[in-house]
Amino acid sequence: MPYSLLIRNCGQLLTLAGGPTDQPLRGAALADWHILENAFVACEGDKIVALGPMSALDETQVTAATTVLNAQGRVVMPGLVECHTHLVFAGNRAHEFQRKLQGESYLDILASGGGILSTVRATRVAPEAELLANALRHLHDFRRYGITTLEAKSGYGLDKETELRLVRVAREAGRRQPVRVVPTFLGAHVVPPEYKGRPADYLDFLAADVLPALQGEAEFVDIFCEEGAFSVEDSRRYLEKARALGFGLKIHAEQLHDLGGCAMAAELGAVSVDHCDYLSAADAARVAAAGRTVAVLLPLVPLFLRQEQYAPGRQLIGQGVPVAISTDFNPGSCPSKNLWLALSMACLKMGFTPKEALAAVTLNAAWALDLAAEIGSLEAGKRADILVLDVRDYQEIPYWLGENPVQTVIIGGQVV
Ligand code: NIG
Ligand code: FE
Repeated sequence: MPYSLLIRNCGQLLTLAGGPTDQPLRGAALADWHILENAFVACEGDKIVALGPMSALDETQVTAATTVLNAQGRVVMPGLVECHTHLVFAGNRAHEFQRKLQGESYLDILASGGGILSTVRATRVAPEAELLANALRHLHDFRRYGITTLEAKSGYGLDKETELRLVRVAREAGRRQPVRVVPTFLGAHVVPPEYKGRPADYLDFLAADVLPALQGEAEFVDIFCEEGAFSVEDSRRYLEKARALGFGLKIHAEQLHDLGGCAMAAELGAVSVDHCDYLSAADAARVAAAGRTVAVLLPLVPLFLRQEQYAPGRQLIGQGVPVAISTDFNPGSCPSKNLWLALSMACLKMGFTPKEALAAVTLNAAWALDLAAEIGSLEAGKRADILVLDVRDYQEIPYWLGENPVQTVIIGGQVV
């Protein structure tokens, strides 16, 4: 079969390949993947079929039917995997920005009925078509940043009807454009006004009434384990029920306090524990021991919440915890879709090296979505999700702070 797509003259081909394939990258392996110089990558249909140095290119497979891109010495790498977003919501929280600048904390704004609850009010009354249009606009922006797969959480409905609508919108948005969307159910975001003071009752309602309706619709179930949201014990009971129904597990934990949610979720087999700003060394060791749980670090969140404490990335890598990096795009704690900026901030504030940070937004982010067998690296047999960047050395990627280095985006073998 001739190649349907060939990218030639890649100055540096960041393969992300060469490490273990049965578990996420951790410790030294995070930076121990292969970069090929003066290389090519070839695809048939939606799959990568060959890659290597230009000298090894089989020109007989290049025909008139082959789309040929000349990278002209640029960096070529796997599409970015954005493994934690709150994609579907109405309105915005610009009105709370000023309150935050005046010193009000995230949890104070939430306790006063604002924050997440303010977005819940706007989202409940928004027509489905408006939610879909918003999601599609955001996906378009993500695609320009080179995101080729994106996780999308619900969590701004907090009632059955609206939560099901948010998952439906995420799935429909995935069908209408090329970025692959992975839906996660975050009905357990905070306690809705209807269940004020009764978090356990709300979780029982979600487990009994809502989760069964989402089987086959949402891949993962997530919960916000935090003061002012859900306790570790309530979170454990809820996640156990979700696991019994066949969902993969995720948790928002140790964002603002060290409660022990990350270690608890890792021990339940969660695919990821997200935020981790206040994760202790002792609990990090428990996450590492769990084996395959990825710590998803979100450096734009402390930046936007004016928080000094960032997740201890360097220490987590040293302890053998697999790490990924994401934006956490949402209207409250990170109204940014710039995963390249998050990557730079992980280097500046969490101690990542550029190579480690690149693994954290590709292959390890794919592990955090249980998709590493299909995406996250450039290897024969994997999906042809590929970026051509307008830089010539990978070290420039975190260096051009806040810039978008993407020149060309390929999803499933198609230039999009
Ligand atoms: O991941 N911390 C909880 N949830 C989101 C923020 C949601 C919001 O503020 O609207 C987060 O930071
Ligand atoms: Fe989040």
